[in-house]
Amino acid sequence: MEQSANYNQDFLFKVLVVGDFGVGKTAIVRRYTEGEFSQNYKITIGVDFLIKRLRWHPNKQITLQMWDIAGHERFGSLTRVYYKYATAAVLVYDLSRPTTLESIIKWREDLREKTDDARLPTLLLANKCDISQDWPDLDKFCKQHGIDAWFPTSAKENVNVDEAINFLVERILEGDSVQSHNAPDDGVNLEDKPTSSLCNC
Ligand code: GTP
Repeated sequence: MEQSANYNQDFLFKVLVVGDFGVGKTAIVRRYTEGEFSQNYKITIGVDFLIKRLRWHPNKQITLQMWDIAGHERFGSLTRVYYKYATAAVLVYDLSRPTTLESIIKWREDLREKTDDARLPTLLLANKCDISQDWPDLDKFCKQHGIDAWFPTSAKENVNVDEAINFLVERILEGDSVQSHNAPDDGVNLEDKPTSSLCNC
C-alpha cells in the first residue's frame, strides 16, 4: 500500500552503555545528550538514563534512550533487568587503564547472555583519547568478540562521540529487527520509559 507523503515514522531505541567503573560512560552519555562535560566523578548507582531525540529524516524521528549502567561490580546482579528490550549496546573502556579493555570481553559476554540477541548492534569506544592514544589492534579485537566497530573518543574534548553514536543508529536502522510505528502526530510513545531524575525530556 502506498504511504502518504506525511507518513511519520517514530523509532524508540534503547541503547545500553556498559563498561568498568570510571571509564567515562556517564560522561559520554551526557556529552551526547546534553553537550556537557564535568570533571567531577560521581559513581553511578544502579542505572541512570538520558533521552536524545533525533530527526533523522523529515519524516523519521528517533528517540534514543541511553541507559548508563553502573560499572561497579556490586551492581552487577541487577543488569539482567536493565538489559531487557535493548536495541543496541555501547561498550566503553578507558585508554589510560588497559585492564578496562580486558573487562570488555566480560561485558560483551554478559550482553550476549542477558539480551539473548547475538546480533545486537554493538560498538566499542576507546575513551579518554585526550590523555592516551595508545591502543592495540582494535579491529582484530572487535572481530574476535563480535563487536561491529570501534572509535577512539573523548567525552572531555568532544571527539567522535556524535560520530560513534550516529554510526550505531545507522547500524540499528539497517537491522531487520527494527520496527517502527506510524505516528499520527509528532508524539513519541514512551510507555515503556522508566522515570529518572536524569531524564531531560
Ligand atoms: P561509573 O558510574 O562508576 O560506572 O563510572 P563511569 O564509567 O560512568 O565514569 P564517569 O563518566 O563518571 O567518568 C569517570 C571520570 O573520568 C570522571 O572524572 C570524568 O570527568 C572522567 N572522564 C570521562 N570521560 C573522559 C574523557 O574523555 N577524558 C578525560 N580526560 N576524562 C574523562
